[in-house]
Amino acid sequence: MSTVTESRLPLPLFRRGKVREVYEVDAKHLLLVASDRVSAFDVVMRQPIPRKGAVLTQVSAFWFEQLAPVFPSHYVTARTEEIVERIPRLAGRADEIAGRAMLVRRTAPVPFECVVRGYLSGSAWAEYRAHGTLAGEPLAAGLLESARLEPPLFSPATKAESGHDENVPLARMAATLGPEIAGALRDASFAVYRAGRDHAAARGIIVADTKLEFGTTAEGTLLLIDELLTPDSSRFWPADRYAPGRSQPSFDKQPLRDYLAGLRSAGAWNGEAPPPPLPAEVVDATSRRYLEAFRLLTGAELGGPA
Ligand SMILES: Nc1ncnc2c1ncn2[C@@H]1O[C@H](COP(=O)(O)OP(=O)(O)OP(=O)(O)O)[C@@H](O)[C@H]1O
Ligand SMILES: [Mg+2]
Repeated sequence: MSTVTESRLPLPLFRRGKVREVYEVDAKHLLLVASDRVSAFDVVMRQPIPRKGAVLTQVSAFWFEQLAPVFPSHYVTARTEEIVERIPRLAGRADEIAGRAMLVRRTAPVPFECVVRGYLSGSAWAEYRAHGTLAGEPLAAGLLESARLEPPLFSPATKAESGHDENVPLARMAATLGPEIAGALRDASFAVYRAGRDHAAARGIIVADTKLEFGTTAEGTLLLIDELLTPDSSRFWPADRYAPGRSQPSFDKQPLRDYLAGLRSAGAWNGEAPPPPLPAEVVDATSRRYLEAFRLLTGAELGGPA
């Protein structure tokens, strides 16, 4: 199984994101391919993290299957043999997509990210610390950084093409999509988050928050799309190290973050592109964390050669 910095498949490229390439398969299907690229502090590193792409794809596949009774999704298959069988142009390319590709139903994406927050962190903590609000609406006073939010909060954001997404109130989403669809998205997001959070909590991982995306099929059905409850779309924290009142270590990226933070405080990196080269130990430690997240969440080892 190769390490892939950027896939180049013989299919029309629909989009290249920070981490994934999206290809057009036919009018009704897309192929999502997770590379082994990793970003930290919003900068994509030059060195790939072995197995990371397969972890991302197979974690999503696990959740789409597991949570199908909670909400329907775009998921068709993430089995490489089946994908190659269904897309004849990929004959001979199994090694490049092994474990990392997911065939999905194509939708018209809802133009909001549906974020659920079970803990106060990231952009929500920054706004709360400055103004006591989230998306302009007041929260309880006196909350600590990383405080558990019970009940969790629905915190939609606009999808910014460049720069940072903007947190918006539910009313803004309702004004654009209509109150019925906005309410349905909120309810679905809570149900998916709670099911994922409870499953992960029993395995020692806190899902502090997660970003869900939805899309509409040509027939008008709402589906969960994109990736689901992965380390890239969620904050995963090790439960045994949780303590409110500070930022939490990241389950997956902490070795990388610690290394980069060290360079920054030593004045050896300014936090912007181009990224510094990563030592092999940092790459290995990060790869092991992703594999560990997969093992804990799914209860299985990631298939294929290590
Ligand atoms: N079933 C689907 N139908 C239509 N679009 C989809 C579907 N599933 C995912 N997408 C879209 O695919 C795109 C994936 O690209 P994106 O830029 O998010 O990649 P990424 O590597 O995750 O980058 P980033 O880290 O910046 O989010 C998203 O815009 C998402 O809305
Ligand atoms: Mg994305």
